[in-house]
Amino acid sequence: MKNIKNYLEGLGVDKELVGVFGSLAEAVKKISVAVRTANTGKVGTTNSYGEEQVALDVLSNNLMIDELKKNARVGLIASEELPDEEKIGEGEYALAFDPLDGSSLVDVNFSVGTIVGLYKTKSFIGVKGDDQVASMIAVYGPRTTIFLTVKKGVAHFILNNEGEFILDKDNIQIGEGKYFAPGNLRACVNNPAYLELVNYWIKEKYTLRYSGGMVPDVNHILLKEKGVFAYPGHKDEIDGKLRLLFECAPMSLIMEQAGGASSDGKMRILEKALETLEQRTPIFIGSKSEVQRCCDMLK
Ligand code: AHG
Ligand code: MN
Ligand code: MN
Repeated sequence: MKNIKNYLEGLGVDKELVGVFGSLAEAVKKISVAVRTANTGKVGTTNSYGEEQVALDVLSNNLMIDELKKNARVGLIASEELPDEEKIGEGEYALAFDPLDGSSLVDVNFSVGTIVGLYKTKSFIGVKGDDQVASMIAVYGPRTTIFLTVKKGVAHFILNNEGEFILDKDNIQIGEGKYFAPGNLRACVNNPAYLELVNYWIKEKYTLRYSGGMVPDVNHILLKEKGVFAYPGHKDEIDGKLRLLFECAPMSLIMEQAGGASSDGKMRILEKALETLEQRTPIFIGSKSEVQRCCDMLK
């Protein structure tokens, strides 16, 4: 039974990065307890996107930062719940995260997640997803799980009742298959090409797997090893809703490392340079030929 540390050491990862993943695993365990037991209500504050924060957004963000502050290897952080990037230490690692993705689904007891991109940089402005040295997704569902990549493939771990993340599957390989997760269907109203794409999926008898949370939706693709998640923009909201730094870049690194693809419709997500922390992007992510179909039909 391999845990995250054994797995990373087996790949020859340096002890500093193994330690950073140790801190992330601790934060994920604490957030998972909070998701199960803390108040699910709103707090009456908004984040820098004007989105209403739920108590758990703030709590998860604090749990993550408290854990990272204890690790001397961490220097810079940026969070979906903070207005600016912040230097919290002298370490060489810079972490960008969405502490609780899908927090509007917490009150209805749907799955939610945490998304983290790891870099070595003094500022996130100007970085590309390709600059990540690693990335991680945690899923808080009936089980708490972690996907991670250190750019040597993708592995999946499940939290056991001794508090250890045990390797469930490594070398995840995305093939082809008819599952679709169509985000932002509202965009069909003024993006007729998207309506056409959705109709294609329906006519071709694809199976719908959409939860309303990008983390569980992408998790479905990674574990079934096929399918596509789409979140396009439309005329009044060209770049859609999802954030390049906090959501799309880390997810895209994992998807490409698993042999899948991720595009904004024109270019690889991982090639997009970050102009502002809150930058948004359309995204099509999953099986290679499905992502290609999205690009072809939406151009
Ligand atoms: P947040 O971190 O603000 O909770 O973002 C959730 C995201 C993502 O998980 C999901 O795919 C998308 O929002 C769904 O948004 P809409 O339901 O507004 O389309
Ligand atoms: Mn989010
Ligand atoms: Mn969030």
